[in-house]
Order: sequence, then C-alpha cells, then structure tokens
Amino acid sequence: MTINIILLGPPGAGKGTQARRLVEERGMVQLSTGDMLRAARSSGTEMGRRVAEVMDRGQLVTDEIVIGLIREKLAEGGKGFIFDGFPRTLAQADALGQLLAETGNSLDAVIEMQVDDEALVRRITGRFTCGNCGEVYHDDTRPTKVPGVCDACGSTDLKRRADDNEDSLKTRLLEYYKKTSPLIGYYYAKGKLAPVDGLAEMDDVAGQIAKALGG
Ligand code: AP5
Repeated sequence: MTINIILLGPPGAGKGTQARRLVEERGMVQLSTGDMLRAARSSGTEMGRRVAEVMDRGQLVTDEIVIGLIREKLAEGGKGFIFDGFPRTLAQADALGQLLAETGNSLDAVIEMQVDDEALVRRITGRFTCGNCGEVYHDDTRPTKVPGVCDACGSTDLKRRADDNEDSLKTRLLEYYKKTSPLIGYYYAKGKLAPVDGLAEMDDVAGQIAKALGG
C-alpha cells in the first residue's frame, strides 16, 4: 500500500532522522524542502545567495519558492512521499492539498512530532551530518562509531549546519510557533493528525510512527 505523509514538528524534532528510516524501511520518497534549499544555496546562483541569507537568519523562505520546489518534485511522478519540513505555513498546506489532488495523490497522515524546547536546543547544537550521504548524527545521542567517519558511507566530510546555533534556533522556533504550529489544528480538523512522542528513543519514535501508519 502506498501512503503519503507529512512529518510536522519544530526544528530538531527528529523529522529528518525518521524520514531517512522510512525511506530505508518502506522505500518511501523523502521530500525535504530544507535539503532542497541547501542544494539551491550551494548552486552559486543569485536565488541561492538570497535563500542562504534567509536560512542562516532562521527565517522562512517565501511560500512561492518552496511551493515551486515541491511542484517540480511531484511533477516528476512517484508515490509514497514523506513531506519533511513542508508545509510550514497555511498557504503551503493549501497548495500541497491542491498539488496532491492535481497529481492524483492524497494525504494519508500528518505525524506531529511532539518535543519540548529545551531538548531542541541540545539536539540542534549537537547535530552534525554527512556531507556525502546526508546521514544525521549527534555528539551525545548518535555519535559515529569511528570518530570523524560516517557509519553509512565512510566519508570524512562531516559538517555542522550554519543555522545550527542558539541565535538562529531562537528565530526558527519563533517562526515555527507563529507560522507552522497553526497547521496542527488545520490537520486535526481534517482528521489527519497523528501525534507521537518525539522525546522518546529514536527506535521508539519509529515504532510509534509505524503504529500510526497501521503497522
Ligand atoms: P529544515 O532543514 O527543514 O530544518 P528544521 O525544520 O529546522 O528541522 P531540522 O532539520 O533542524 O530538524 P529535524 O526535525 O529534521 O531533526 P533531525 O532529525 O535532524 O529547514 C531549514 C531552513 O530551511 C528553515 O529554517 C527555513 O529557512 C528553510 N525552509 C525549509 N523548509 C521550508 C518551508 N517549507 N518553507 C519556508 N522555509 C523553509 O534531529 C536533530 C538532532 O537530534 C540530530 O542530531 C539527531 O541525531 C537527534 N535526534 C533525532 N531524534 C532523536 C531522538 N528521538 N532522541 C535523541 N536524539 C534525536
């Protein structure tokens, strides 16, 4: 059975971590607007430069840009999408509904990853990722087995994100509470919301998501 889901939660809630597991375990397609925007910023274009400034401040990129990115991906076809970090505003949520309908898809569930702000600061400031394969690590909760070497692909290109500092995180959290958290009520009203305890161990969170998706 093919399903399309949204992973909804504040910065550091574990959306990327769980999305990668769903890709591995269920062969789903991860559509992370954060990853797409990071690819755009390293493209060296004028648009990429503007995107980089906004992201580093911790603010949201315009709806027009991110909806355009998702539209392109959905037009490529495929099934079983994980929307990771999208939608983040009501306008994006409405646009996603329309794009799914136009491409003959539907939305099955919105996994709301519940966490508290204190845990987010620890998670964000300890995070690093592999520049080659995108695997996500943490200094304390998920270090690499061999220091400086990615467990998944063996690359030594391990990086910290420019927006993973306490100042940007404050803005990212404010943006989340002002613009993204209204989506919790939006999807609750549509009967799609499935809350999970994002503070649990990673395997436990994965189990809760599997249960919400029907095993
Ligand atoms: P984006 O890349 O989407 O970042 P984010 O939403 O801030 O989320 P993160 O990637 O920081 O966290 P995550 O929830 O994926 O957590 P992770 O799994 O890595 O967006 C970045 C920027 O792009 C935005 O600020 C904005 O500017 C722009 N943007 C993106 N989408 C946009 C949109 N739709 N509209 C407008 N602008 C947009 O986990 C974090 C850490 O915790 C890791 O180290 C991990 O190992 C650890 N961890 C994970 N789970 C657990 C657990 N259960 N227990 C202990 N540790 C855990």
